[in-house]
Amino acid sequence: MTHSPWSIDAAIAVLEPLRAEPGPVLIALQAISGEFGYVPSEAVALIANTFNVSRADVHGVLTFYHDLRTTPALANEIKICVAEACQAVGSRDLEKVLKATYADQVCDAFCFGNCALGPAVMVNGKLIGRATPAMVAEEIK
Ligand code: FES
Repeated sequence: MTHSPWSIDAAIAVLEPLRAEPGPVLIALQAISGEFGYVPSEAVALIANTFNVSRADVHGVLTFYHDLRTTPALANEIKICVAEACQAVGSRDLEKVLKATYADQVCDAFCFGNCALGPAVMVNGKLIGRATPAMVAEEIK
């Protein structure tokens, strides 16, 4: 998915149709994230002003949901499930190997609903069951 570079005018255009939505903060954050690939700090103030809520309210929602990024997306996003079922089949060991190779592109996640096929890894939005380092590398190619 390609994203637009951040611009205040483009952000205003994204937010304007949402003014009529009830409880629009999460919807606005998702819309900004969808347009730009992340939610820059400038967008927090813009959303607060647009919907007449405090910046703290916007920040609280933004930091609650792990899928909302505050920095531009990395080249690859590798999420590894570290919930109980995946840990029982080696997700922590796999995590160490992946972090050694892909460093900050790897982040923890908690259950993709794929528990029977752990360890589960999501690479750029694609779910991989019984994941191995080779399978992750193949998906990144
Ligand atoms: S515990 Fe890993 S997918 Fe559910």
